[in-house]
Amino acid sequence: MPDTLTITDNRTGKQYEVPISYGTYPEYGASIPTADLRNIKASEDDFGLLGYDPGFKNTASCHSSITHIDGDKGILRYRGYPIEELAEHGSYLEVAYLVVHGRLPTRDELEAWTHEITFHTYVHESIKKFTEGFHYDAHPMGMLVSTVAALSTFYPEARDISDAENRRTQIVRLIAKMPTLAAFAYRHSKGLPFVYPDNDLSYAGNFLNMMFSIGEPKQPPNPVLQKALEVLFILHADHEQNCSATAMRSVGSSHADPYVSVAAAAAALYGPLHGGANEQVLRMLREIGTKDRVPEFVDRAKSGDFRLMGFGHRVYKNYDPRARILKSMARDVFEVTGSSPLLDLALELERVALEDEYFVSRRLYPNVDFYSGIIYQAMGFPVDMFPVLFAIPRVSGWLAQWQEMLEDPDQKIARPRQVYTGADERPYVPIDERTGADEQVGSPVGAGMDGR
Ligand code: CMC
Repeated sequence: MPDTLTITDNRTGKQYEVPISYGTYPEYGASIPTADLRNIKASEDDFGLLGYDPGFKNTASCHSSITHIDGDKGILRYRGYPIEELAEHGSYLEVAYLVVHGRLPTRDELEAWTHEITFHTYVHESIKKFTEGFHYDAHPMGMLVSTVAALSTFYPEARDISDAENRRTQIVRLIAKMPTLAAFAYRHSKGLPFVYPDNDLSYAGNFLNMMFSIGEPKQPPNPVLQKALEVLFILHADHEQNCSATAMRSVGSSHADPYVSVAAAAAALYGPLHGGANEQVLRMLREIGTKDRVPEFVDRAKSGDFRLMGFGHRVYKNYDPRARILKSMARDVFEVTGSSPLLDLALELERVALEDEYFVSRRLYPNVDFYSGIIYQAMGFPVDMFPVLFAIPRVSGWLAQWQEMLEDPDQKIARPRQVYTGADERPYVPIDERTGADEQVGSPVGAGMDGR
């Protein structure tokens, strides 16, 4: 059986043969080169067929060897390693090394990597002044996006993206400095003095210290909470071609430097449809209030009044493996922080929903955001910091995606086509002869979002 697809153009009766190629799993990700569709023409001067795929719902934009997700089976692997094993045995920096380099580090490599990251955690004093310039109630994610972009001005050599060693230096700097920028943003919003990085602490421990430390004596962050944050960071390190990874690749494809590319990726993550659902979960649980109100709330979600936040996923049609890990970790965290009525409520909501035909038949299961917000809140993070907590570990994934894109000879500057639906050529109308709305073609500014 040949691995090809035969297409018949009924406009002309002509047939075209297109090759089918495969990735690691033949049953997942078989693809055709859509550029070949350009050969399909109704006439000689025809442009050729385009694929129309808003939101890239069925378009592979790259070959990638970083992350594998099988949404039907509930599988997530970085570089082939199951997320469950990485979360149980790894540290975040070990996983960041894996994601960026493609293999687990040896003991010496991990030590050297940890040393490098640890000694790049400081930022230029001007970044501190820059952060101080924000209004007192500036959103920490807005501050993070801006300060990461500002780093570009401190490292002009980062523009030489063709030099592999230079790229690696910027990768180390970015992974190292993200927690510092994030903690500075938080401290500024609270009117608290900045805490400088402490190179004796772990990656997560140092971040907790920069966030919450007040005065002397120095108190090392709680080990259970440090471990929990490491796990949260591991679970968020990469998630293949999502909105922010796509932003990273698109901006990076113009050969912009990695700082502004990461700023663009973080901006994509800022949106509530991507990095903001865990905040909505908290709001929803507060609105439900007590366990006895869960069935009524689930009924309202079923009737289409609203969606159950933290439920359902574009890719996972099974239990999100990250949610499973967080669910079991929540108990450890709450033993340290004290029990939370929100956790009991979440467990009850999950129980009721997963027994309900509506959720079962649509394969709607808890996703990563269902438990992460409750845990972050118990650890003392304000809701505004949730997308920031997502961005810190995701920077390793963005940078791995960026490197892979730059090294892939198939990749070009991201530049999709469009199907033009606007006005045909028309003559310029002098201002006094214009009729206004009658001349409108396409949607006017402020026309609404069709329910999106
Ligand atoms: N509550 C109730 N009904 C739902 C939900 C939900 N959370 N999610 C989907 N449905 C229903 C939806 O109404 C539709 O029903 P019907 O077929 O009767 O019209 C059906 O399930 C399929 O929904 P869809 O909109 O086609 O699914 P999608 O793949 O486009 O959407 C989603 C995925 C994540 C946007 C959606 O499930 C959702 O809005 N969930 C709530 C928000 C949320 O938790 N987002 C975080 C996602 S995880 C983030 C990450 O991985 O980084």
